[in-house]
Amino acid sequence: MIIEPRMRGFICLTAHPDGCAQNVKNQIEYVKSKGAIDGAKKVLVIGASTGFGLASRITAAFGSGAATIGVFFEKAPSEGKTASPGWYNSAAFDHEAHQAGLYAKSINGDAFSKEIKDKTIELIKADLGQIDLVIYSLASPVRKHPDTEVLHRSTLKPIGGTYTNKTVDFHTGNVSTISIEPANEEDIANTVAVMGGEDWSMWIDALKAENLLAEGATTVAYSYIGPALTEPVYRKGTIGRAKDDLEATAFTITDKLKDLNGKAFVSVNKALVTQASSAIPVIPLYISLLYKVMKAEGIHEGTIEQIQRLFAERLYQGGDIPLDDKGRIRIDDWEMREDVQARVAQLWEEATTETLPAIGDLPGYRADFLSLFGFEIDGVDYQKEANEVVEIEGLV
Ligand code: NAI
Repeated sequence: MIIEPRMRGFICLTAHPDGCAQNVKNQIEYVKSKGAIDGAKKVLVIGASTGFGLASRITAAFGSGAATIGVFFEKAPSEGKTASPGWYNSAAFDHEAHQAGLYAKSINGDAFSKEIKDKTIELIKADLGQIDLVIYSLASPVRKHPDTEVLHRSTLKPIGGTYTNKTVDFHTGNVSTISIEPANEEDIANTVAVMGGEDWSMWIDALKAENLLAEGATTVAYSYIGPALTEPVYRKGTIGRAKDDLEATAFTITDKLKDLNGKAFVSVNKALVTQASSAIPVIPLYISLLYKVMKAEGIHEGTIEQIQRLFAERLYQGGDIPLDDKGRIRIDDWEMREDVQARVAQLWEEATTETLPAIGDLPGYRADFLSLFGFEIDGVDYQKEANEVVEIEGLV
């Protein structure tokens, strides 16, 4: 079928299999162009199909020749109906990995559930024996708690007072003012339940109980800090509480892994256009200004550049991993550079519907957003019939 983007609000309802495949190939080529990384050889990526998790799987496989198991929650295609982009990405990843002679298997289902953890454990037992790197990169609006069966919904709200600031509709370029009502205690608890560290910890407990973590095993989860101007809705809002909890969990996991000389880290990554971040008010305006400044400085990165640098220059650079005063890896160092932040803060003051085309990078934002779904990718013929029913070779 001929597949075109069909937008609804912050999401695109369609995805292009060939565009997603090309995206994956481009990321693979980037990692290969940067040279080999002396990293982990057996890697489990939880949240492996899009964004930072996909980039992690690609970097492990094509940077270090790792065998990878990817866990994700994506919609399969059917005749006349496209899959979600993460499905097509994973199909392309498994295919490229197999072509390169690498082990790659994939599990599609709810990573928060006991069933998917058990399925992953059985697969590791049967195929890999032990894992030496676990990447935890889930971004989800809901979590059904495996013990209580309560369905928790995360929110993106400020805490303590209403937050009013500028935002942009990235489809139209219209800059407006948005007010977000503060969270109550239940919102905070629910967001921590979904995006905090409990599930990460449960994964590590389950793997360790079955002796599936190798001596010196490492696990990494991803966090975000960002600038003062998004603080009320991000780092000091409900999602920030969840990130505080995730970051604290790194220390409790490290304690649990002591007997294996294992370690848990949180890496603070750069703000990027992903399905998760597009849904957060205020962030798209910040990102479009940030992109403009970072591109002008020649320091812009996408997910693959971020994760390749995380692996090559932090995790596996050969010495002690550099950490900040709170024990976190910082790969958001270029975003948080003083001159970059000062310039973005100044542009923020100036941003209106009229000025944004000149001072912000909305075309870059939109292009990144469309590319998440496999659209507007160089080298893909969108007039050509595409086969929407694509299988994931390594799906178990
Ligand atoms: P994403 O939306 O691109 O990826 C989310 C992944 O989680 C996908 O593979 C999806 O299939 C999987 N997933 C979601 N629910 C699942 C479930 N119930 N079971 C199994 N898999 C499930 O998100 P993104 O942006 O890559 O986020 C990953 C992590 O990086 C998050 O912790 C996020 O907070 C963090 N981060 C994101 C930044 C950004 O600007 N996008 C910046 C810094 C950190």
